[in-house]
Amino acid sequence: MIAVHFDKPGGPENLYLKEVAKPSPGEGEVLLKVAASALNRADLLQRQGQYAPPPGASNILGLEASGHVAELGAGYQGPWKVGDPAMVLLSGGGQAQYVTVPAELLMPIPAGLTMCQAAAIPEAWLTAFQLLHLVGNVQAGDSVLIHAGASGVGTAAIQLARMVGATPLVTAGSQQKLQRAEKLGAAAGFNYKEEDFSEATLKFTKVQADAGEGFHRANSAPLLHGGPSTLTAGSGQSLPRG
Ligand SMILES: NC(=O)c1ccc[n+]([C@@H]2O[C@H](COP(=O)([O-])OP(=O)(O)OC[C@H]3O[C@@H](n4cnc5c(N)ncnc54)[C@H](OP(=O)(O)O)[C@@H]3O)[C@@H](O)[C@H]2O)c1
Repeated sequence: MIAVHFDKPGGPENLYLKEVAKPSPGEGEVLLKVAASALNRADLLQRQGQYAPPPGASNILGLEASGHVAELGAGYQGPWKVGDPAMVLLSGGGQAQYVTVPAELLMPIPAGLTMCQAAAIPEAWLTAFQLLHLVGNVQAGDSVLIHAGASGVGTAAIQLARMVGATPLVTAGSQQKLQRAEKLGAAAGFNYKEEDFSEATLKFTKVQADAGEGFHRANSAPLLHGGPSTLTAGSGQSLPRG
């Protein structure tokens, strides 16, 4: 099969398509024929030689993919059948024609999503969903401060916060990124390089609370009781500059 490959760490110019061995699904695994994969921060770090896949994982790039089940591992008894469409979070290997994955990690593709859209859900969107709903228990009426508001996880979190009726506030490192976040639904954004975002956040939420009903009708932004939740996603390593 063909996979995205690089021989030495560096920029995107080092990437090329290489013929590599097609993986074979082991017990409890399925083989997915990849239709689309997405690009995440960890892929860029891996390509630059600054992120190593976990032990046992494929060293091919690609932490998420969509596609169709192509083969079932020996003895597989579960619900997935050859030909079923699915999306999946991976520990690597998505940027190839085929990838093997534990069957329990396959997820059905929500109705109405294209393969390309589905391939971009597992990393950023499910991380944002997990942070907002499983960790933060964000409810309608909450205000949520989202750092790196123009990042993959941040842009998903803004939209998910709006969907539940919460008010997303963001930080970002440039005006352009703040504008992008505001287009996606951020109620306010603060450039952490130019101002103290914690003071700005408190000021914004206090103005919101003081303004009362009229403000809320105009902005669809509910009253804040106490400070906003802060949710962060991390790779467990600091991001190198550049
Ligand atoms: N399951 C998980 O735990 C999980 C899943 C997905 C992602 N993550 C992690 O969540 C973080 C965000 O991922 P993502 O894919 O959303 O990232 P992304 O789209 O690449 O955005 C990263 C953002 O981080 C900020 N940043 C701060 N310091 C940086 C640096 N030195 N280099 C590059 N960016 C820097 C930048 O925003 P500003 O310019 O506004 O500061 C940038 O927009 C990463 O650490 C990633 O590994 C974790």
